[in-house]
Amino acid sequence: MDRLGPILVHHLFSAGRTVQIHDLNNRAVQTALSKLLETLRELGNTEGRVAVTVATDLLSINDVRVVVDTQSMGPVLYLINEMKKRKVEEIDFAPEVALEELGSFLKLFFSEPSEEDVFGELDRKLSDAGVVNIRITEWIERVKYLRDAKVNKQEIREESNRVMSRAVMFMGEVMRAIAQRRPVQLPKASRIAQQIADIIRTDETILVGLASIKDYDEYTFSHSVNVSVLSMLIADRMGLHKSDTAQVGVAALFHDVGKTHIPQTVLNKPDSLTADEWQLMERHPMLGVIELSRARSLRAIADSLFVSLQHHVLHDGKGYPAKSSPWELHPFNRIVTIADVYDAMTTPRVYRKQTLTPDSALRLIGRKSGEMFDPLVVKTFIRAIGVYPVGTVVRLDTGEHAVVTRQNESCRLMHRPVVALLPEDGSPGEQFDLAERAAGGTAHRRTIVESVHDKRYEARKATRFLVK
Ligand SMILES: [Fe+2]
Ligand SMILES: [Fe+2]
Repeated sequence: MDRLGPILVHHLFSAGRTVQIHDLNNRAVQTALSKLLETLRELGNTEGRVAVTVATDLLSINDVRVVVDTQSMGPVLYLINEMKKRKVEEIDFAPEVALEELGSFLKLFFSEPSEEDVFGELDRKLSDAGVVNIRITEWIERVKYLRDAKVNKQEIREESNRVMSRAVMFMGEVMRAIAQRRPVQLPKASRIAQQIADIIRTDETILVGLASIKDYDEYTFSHSVNVSVLSMLIADRMGLHKSDTAQVGVAALFHDVGKTHIPQTVLNKPDSLTADEWQLMERHPMLGVIELSRARSLRAIADSLFVSLQHHVLHDGKGYPAKSSPWELHPFNRIVTIADVYDAMTTPRVYRKQTLTPDSALRLIGRKSGEMFDPLVVKTFIRAIGVYPVGTVVRLDTGEHAVVTRQNESCRLMHRPVVALLPEDGSPGEQFDLAERAAGGTAHRRTIVESVHDKRYEARKATRFLVK
């Protein structure tokens, strides 16, 4: 890799330059293309796919930074610049790519970028031209600045929305890759997890709110993303290092990939499953392991393998897959299991008789602490998301309905979060701190009576967290 990285950049650079000047059937172009393809194949031999990525101002190939010396400086900077101009963060070459396809790709990629929606335009052109073995990923500004500078709420809201929808889209790609027996894109998963981890360290409120919106079409995609967000929140609050927190997030994103091989009719069956169907369902952890082990680096995917295998094994060793000797549970698994159960219980599904409100799901998890769930993780989880998590719809003693928008810092005020009213006419309701007392009095102005699960409020609450 150390040797091939700069060579690949060099060939990409010269092929890019020549296709800009000549036709595809020109000799110089053909020579440049064959050299490039040869290097791609050589890299692909050891690593499968080849991903060229720009992060900040660094160029990486399969997540290894290309070291810049005086010779490679020009080509590296050129490539970074051309990718940024087209808002491309990553170019991913599949092993199947052939000379002709490579030519069409380079011709389109290095043509003059369009003025508007530069990435979308390029992506469309590539798919029109039938380029399927080279994929591009859109560049999204890194959230690193969130930690460094004071950022306003609107920026965090926008960033949270972007990362969430990016993650949901990514899960779609993962499922597609698995259906086609291709390895999962681990580097991209970890970049997404790192972005989520960055936001969590700044202000996770909007992310938790978004995770509470359950009306996405694609359940498995958004479920995996929600579990990832909640798992990372727990990991962060347990004091894990940022890179470990992101690893937890990656494992959570992948925990249910084995479900790709379970028929939809079984996954979405409204009635209870037959014994045969259960047997099939219970295979999804192991099927996930098989799929994940196609990854380029087994070392990098190791935590995810354990979590996929064990996420239905509980603290007391019950659950599935069954094992004759006691399970030794991976520490990340203790986190992901709780986030998984919580998201599942609070999401309406055809086969589930009752969808729990967030606070009742938490109470249930609390009751099973020490038995089904690791007590320390349960405690951390409740402390992190509060008694009434952000996104919970509640009825107040005034008869009004409201949605929880923020926790109060103090533990003693766990029952009194900040809420936004949800007026009947759908107008944006006023924010209200439930810790507030009436002027001169000791009584609180408003108090939560109960949480409610009512579809009418779901859409209205969603507007609180989504970017319009
Ligand atoms: Fe599962
Ligand atoms: Fe799950």
